[in-house]
Amino acid sequence: MSQYIMKGGLPLTGEVNISGAKNAALGIIAGAILTDEDVHIDNVPDVRDTNIMLEAMKELGASVERIDRNTVRINTSSIRNAAIDDDYLRMMRASYYFIGALLGKHHEAEVPLPGGCVIGSRPIDQHVKGFRALGAKIHIENGNVIAKADRLVGDEIYLDKVSVGATINIMMAAVLAEGRTIIGNAAKEPHIVDMANFLNSMGANIRGAGTDVIRIKGVNKLHGTEYSIIPDQIEAGTFMCAAAITKGDVTVKNIIPKHMESVSAKLEEVGCTVIEYDDAIRVIGPEVIKPANIMTLPYPGFPTDMQPQITTLLALSSGTSMVVESIFDSRFKYVDELIRMGADIRVEGNIAVVNGINEFSPAQITAPDLRAGAALVLAGLAADGITIVNEIEFIQRGYEHFEKKLAELGATIDIVDSEREAKKFAMKVG
Ligand code: EPZ
Repeated sequence: MSQYIMKGGLPLTGEVNISGAKNAALGIIAGAILTDEDVHIDNVPDVRDTNIMLEAMKELGASVERIDRNTVRINTSSIRNAAIDDDYLRMMRASYYFIGALLGKHHEAEVPLPGGCVIGSRPIDQHVKGFRALGAKIHIENGNVIAKADRLVGDEIYLDKVSVGATINIMMAAVLAEGRTIIGNAAKEPHIVDMANFLNSMGANIRGAGTDVIRIKGVNKLHGTEYSIIPDQIEAGTFMCAAAITKGDVTVKNIIPKHMESVSAKLEEVGCTVIEYDDAIRVIGPEVIKPANIMTLPYPGFPTDMQPQITTLLALSSGTSMVVESIFDSRFKYVDELIRMGADIRVEGNIAVVNGINEFSPAQITAPDLRAGAALVLAGLAADGITIVNEIEFIQRGYEHFEKKLAELGATIDIVDSEREAKKFAMKVG
């Protein structure tokens, strides 16, 4: 299993280009099923999860042409069966987007029940609630979600919980349904708006995305489109935290600063200098990191996908911070790894009490999931000495060429696949 190996203790400086948003790309790739015409998508991040989705599209019978690393042309007119049986998909949550897309277009779907992950149980009851409201019959058989509908008719659906996945999935199932659908208590993340804009560029009639009430008027057919995916707000936030934790000076480019407001505000609160430009943000890390309290909330609140990164930063603050994870029920598994680097953090349920320490001590640690893995790399970059992070496949699910982008900012980091390579790296960096 590959590992990241790094020699931390140096400030990151320079500019980094942010890739397309993984969590927008996953819904948009599946959304290509809703038309028989060509869908041309650019700014697709070249990461494991989007590549798995594209492979799954091919398995369904779609033609998927990779124009370049970040651009694809998809045509799904040749899809015959609406059943996917792919072990990869079982591991990836976003497989659920095939249910909404196949149901919306073909009125049937058979998709592996999405894998959970270490951050908590991840039911899809709100997705199912929406599909049933539109007239679909849904049941689980042999670990697959099986959906069928004679007709799909618009309805009013009020989500019991704000859910990104359910909001996107119900939009896809409703755009070709008869009549109007209203989604109440809808998620408002930037990738929800991106998904609605993508579907509207295909001729859908969706209003209100980005607010908590989305109104959809069913249309008969969707046409092809050319669409560019928004920048990844979480990748941007991760690099902003990297600047802060290494006392560096980094400008994240090709971003939408409005999407970063809660992260920018928190970094200013802990002492960073944050300078906004039209499509970039510069973060200068502070000499002393001040403590702060965090509660993760649906957008525009502080994003749960930035919780491990900000907690890792606060672990080096000059005081005590409290972090409340209100979205997922066990998203602090990585704290044990930070404690192995000397962190003083106590987790009680979904609350972490973080007593700042002066510095991390380098160690060999293991990524438990995607965002926590990225946070552990930030910890390694802050620690003076050699840190190794195991299980980096998790990180490669959502960060395009993470180590290359960090190295371009001055980080001494590489991927190694053996003890011998690790020793060679250590010798080389001294
Ligand atoms: C999406 O997951 C993202 N994944 C997650 O990012 C992100 O953390 C999450 O949204 C919140 O922003 C993708 O977009 C592929 P939810 P999703 O439905 O859609 C509960 C990453 O790091 N819930 O908004 O699964 C759920 O258990 C990943 O990129 C139900 O109870 O999140 C959670 O507690 C990690 N029933 C809360 O709602 C449902 O039917 C929010 O989940 C659906 C969700």
